This record gives sequence, structure tokens and C-alpha cells, in this order.
Amino acid sequence: MKKDVLSITDLTREEIYELLESAADLKAKRKAGEPTEFLKNKSLGMIFEKSSTRTRVSFEVAMTDFGGHALYLNSRDIQIGRGETIEDTARTLSGYLHGIMARVMKHETVEKLAKYSTIPVINALSDLEHPCQILGDFMTIMEYKKKFEGLKFAWVGDGNNVCNSALLGSAIMGMEFAAACPKGYEPKAEFLEKAKTLGGKFIITDDPKVAAKDADIIYTDVWVSMGDEAEQEKRLKDFAKFQVNTELLEVAKPDVIVMHCLPARRGLEITDDVMDGPNSVIFEEAENRLHAQKALILKLMR
Ligand code: CP
Ligand code: NVA
Repeated sequence: MKKDVLSITDLTREEIYELLESAADLKAKRKAGEPTEFLKNKSLGMIFEKSSTRTRVSFEVAMTDFGGHALYLNSRDIQIGRGETIEDTARTLSGYLHGIMARVMKHETVEKLAKYSTIPVINALSDLEHPCQILGDFMTIMEYKKKFEGLKFAWVGDGNNVCNSALLGSAIMGMEFAAACPKGYEPKAEFLEKAKTLGGKFIITDDPKVAAKDADIIYTDVWVSMGDEAEQEKRLKDFAKFQVNTELLEVAKPDVIVMHCLPARRGLEITDDVMDGPNSVIFEEAENRLHAQKALILKLMR
């Protein structure tokens, strides 16, 4: 396995299956209250340039469960905020820690951290990708659908960081991917090219019903991601027809699962009745971030 996971494409299909198996085992152990002190005396540094609830808490709890320690490093509080370079930070932290996870504004920051550190670096969300999210999502899909091959994964909304990882991840796992995005908000050509190289089957449309037709999974995310706040007004208009609601669910398979990486803006990209309805697996999905990331840090840091 590679030293770092910056993109979902840093993992092969076999490695993803192996991680999902380990995640299921760790989930069972946690539910049974079995001790799992596999990373005793090890420390994970968690650099955050942006807000987080799930990622921060799940990584921190993961290290607690493993008998190790997690350090929350807000980029405003550490010397990066005063201009120390990423390169020097990476070299310094490599002398103390056993792993770094970082949530960054620009993807090149995680690339630099990885290049200049001797310890594993995990992308905990950048402007381009969110691989940890997709790992937890795949665990959830496995729990509900028992397979990936042949499933139709419908993305409805912004062709953003989470969408990029879902597109690439679907290509790796053999799912058909259909994204409905307003014009101008589709995933960038480099991600479509990459998905093609991975053998991915996908369509990009601006009609949510085309994407959702016979879908096994409908996935959405906020219309205004962290960093896009200046475009809020325009985006709310551009995305108005891209809501996941009961009308959209009607064209999908009856047993479609509805997913959202959270945080959600209820009443915008998703309605309350869908989010809290029988097809929603959204909070199981949120929990699975913990188990999937535990499998990942165990593999990288043990
Ligand atoms: N889905 C996700 O990454 O949530 P947070 O922003 O709360 O970490
Ligand atoms: N696309 C969202 C995901 C948040 C977990 C963002 O980048 O803000």
C-alpha cells in the first residue's frame, strides 16, 4: 500500500475490499466492547484549515479506541498560520508523530505534506477530493447492497470534491456513475479522464431524473461548499432544480438508498422527509466514517 492516501485512487480495488473487511471487523469489536489498543503510544496529528464535525470527532475517537492519541492542530494556531512553510512543518511533525491527517483549502497542501514528511499523510478533504468520506460511504453501500458491481450510483448536485472521489471510487469498484449537475458545475475534465482510464462507466447530465432513473444509490451534498461562500446567492439559484425529494426518489429503484456526506442544508439540496425517510442511510453513513477510517489508519500507521 502507498504511504499516503490523498485521493481515492491511491487505493486499489483489492485494498478497498481489504479495508472494508477490516472496518466491519473493527465495528463489530467496538459494538462488543472488545479492546482494540493496536496503536498504543502512537500519535496522529490532525491539521484543519476548515471546519469539521464528523472528520475531527471520528479520527479523534479512532485514536482513543486504538489506545493512541490524536492532536487537533488548527492551522490558525500552529505556525503555518504565521507563515511557516508546509515543507518545514511536514519535516518537523515527522519527528514527533506517526501519521498526519489534513483538511486543506488547496489540494497541493496535502501533496506537499506527503512529499516532505516521512510518515503517512491522509487527505481529510481538500478542494479536489474527500477520500475518507468515500471509504465510509463504500462501507455503507456494502452493508446495504452487499456488492458494488453493476450498481447505479446517482450523484445529484455540485460536481465538487466529494463528487470527484465518488466518481473515481465508482470507477474503481465497478459501479455505474451518473451525475446530474447544473451546467458549469460538472466534475472537471481531468477527473472524467481519470475515471475513464480506470475503466469507469459514467454519464453527466443536467437532468436529475435521468441520473436518478433506476438508481441503487442517490447521493447529494451541499450546494455551497466550504470556500464557495462568496457564490452563495448565484449557486442557490443555479441549483434550485437539483433537490433530492420524494418526486425524484420515485424514478429510482424502490430500494434505493439515499446518502449525504453531511453537513446538510435541509430544505435546499434535500428535503426533511427524504433525509428522515425509510430510504435514508445518512446517519449510518456518518457513523461508518469512524469504522472505515479506523481501518485506514491501522493499515497506514501500525
Ligand atoms: N462529511 C464530513 O466530512 O463532515 P465534517 O465536515 O463535519 O467533517
Ligand atoms: N463539499 C463539502 C463537503 C463537506 C464535508 C465541502 O467541501 O464543504
